[in-house]
Formats: sequence, C-alpha cells, structure tokens
Amino acid sequence: MEVMSYKDFAAAGNRGTNIYLDLEENSYGITVESGALTKAGGLFDLDRRVLVVTDDGVPEEYAEAVASQCREPYIVTLPHGEATKNFESFRQLLSEMLSHSFTRKDCVVAVGGGVIGDLSGFAAACYMRGVDFYNVPTTLLSQVDSSIGGKTAIDLDGVKNIAGAFYQPKGVLIDPETLKTRDSRQLHAGLAEAIKMAATSDAFLFKKIEESSDLQADLQTIIVGALLIKRDVVQQDPKENGLRKILNFGHTIGHAIESFGEGRLLHGECVAAGMIPMCSDRAAERLKSVLAKYDLPVSLPDAGRLAGGADDIIKAGADELMPF
Ligand code: GLY
Repeated sequence: MEVMSYKDFAAAGNRGTNIYLDLEENSYGITVESGALTKAGGLFDLDRRVLVVTDDGVPEEYAEAVASQCREPYIVTLPHGEATKNFESFRQLLSEMLSHSFTRKDCVVAVGGGVIGDLSGFAAACYMRGVDFYNVPTTLLSQVDSSIGGKTAIDLDGVKNIAGAFYQPKGVLIDPETLKTRDSRQLHAGLAEAIKMAATSDAFLFKKIEESSDLQADLQTIIVGALLIKRDVVQQDPKENGLRKILNFGHTIGHAIESFGEGRLLHGECVAAGMIPMCSDRAAERLKSVLAKYDLPVSLPDAGRLAGGADDIIKAGADELMPF
C-alpha cells in the first residue's frame, strides 16, 4: 500500500501517482496521471464484456479510448445533465447489459462526470446483484470527490440521490488531461469541492489553492490533495455514520440553493455559497476571498435570480432536506 501525504506528493512535483483506498475486501487503487486514459486496459480487467457509459457532453474520444482497450465493449451515450440521473436511464443500462447477455463476470466503466458515475455505479450494483464497476471521471468535481467513496444513486420524483447504494468501484483512473476541454466556470465549480475539503481538513492544501497563480499547472496536486483527504475520511467511515458528514460541508444550504436555482447554478457554485453561512466570521472572510478568486459565489444568490427567496433557501437548508 502506498502511504503518501499531500506534502510528499507536492514536494515530488506533478508526477503521476497511485492512491490506495483501504476498505478490506472493497479496497481499490486510484491512479492520477496525465495521459492515463490510454492505460485503462493495464489498470482494469477489461478482458470481458464491458458497458462503457458516457454522455454527449464528454468528448467521444474518451469513451472510445477506453472501449478500444476492452475485449467486448458496448458504449452507451446518454444526454448530459442531472436529468439523466433518473430511473429511465438506470433501466436502460440494465436492459443494455441484459440484451448483450452480460453475466456477473462482466463489468461497467463510467467515463464522465458525477451524473454518469453515480448512475453507472448504481446500475453496476444492481445488475445480477452486482458486477464490477470502474470509474474514469472526466470533470474536476468528479475527480476530486464523487468518483471515490462508493456513493451511487439516481434521483426520483424530484428528490436528489434518493435511490442508491454504497458500492465501491474496483478501480478509478483520473487523467487530468481531460480537464483541458472544460470551461473555466465548470472547472471552478469543481474546485469548490476541493476548497470544501481543504477548508475542513488540510491547511496546506487550502493555502496552495489560495496562493495558486496557475490553476491548470496546479490541478494535479490539488486533485491528489483532495483525494487524500477523502480517502482518509472514507476509510474511517465508509457509510457515513459520523466523520464522513464532514464531506457534506456546504451541502445542506448548497442543495437547497440548487433546488431553488432550477439548474442555473452549478452544483459546486451552490456548495460554495452554502459554506459561508456555516462559518465563523474569521473563517468566512478567508473562505470568501479564495472563492472570489475563482469567481465562485460568496453569498446566497439574491432572490431575484432564483425562484425562491433567501428565507426559503435557508429554511430548506435548515430542514436538512438533502444532506447527501
Ligand atoms: N460527496 C460526499 C461524499 O462522498 O461523502
């Protein structure tokens, strides 16, 4: 098992690395390396039927690069966006596996952001009571957070993540090169999740993000820093009985803002705004300054921009509607 602190990694420079998430029989490796997309066949067991799930917002060549390393690949491309994380897409993935006679020895690979990862992981958890699942996250948000830790889910009847399972992947491959195709708004929204983790757990990483003068150049170290925090939390509390709730910092009010925002704000932007009311004045000041640096919201969006008013948002947050 590799034991590497973020400081060691940062000191060693932006070389590729492997992180091991130790969950006994559910343990797995996370590879972070530029260009690693072409190494999926060496890292994962793809010598079988493989359902490669992606969406139409992800460059086609990413799923094709993975598929070209599989013995028998079937690519499914779904529409991009949160609306895809629904029961119909879930049914479609199961039905696709069934129609190609997938057995319990076959597997699913997600190539995309959090929506594709959560949905594909849940389909993998349910098909024949569980087939192997691999995750290749291609957005910063999924690379620093949702691709590891085993939370899989779909939304139902307007409620986010209400049907799902804790189902750990067998491996995760992160290729920071995939972030080059992301616009800066998406990138900054993903960064909000790394800021969230650094704010609660790693002063060194927080400072790195605060002081970065070239985000693109620092992305790999930021991804690894966030993953090491999440790895340590998940190893101690895989099913969120206590400590793992720390990863929900900013999400209670953030999810409320998201639901009132009707899709106008990205998840990470809502989390950014959702962290501020939870902080002391001193912490809020430092947090606001780093969020502002990356054009992230630092206060509850005004009532005019959203369907609900700030009072409703706070009420919904205080009710802990969606602390996932
Ligand atoms: N994204 C929060 C968690 O995985 O627990």
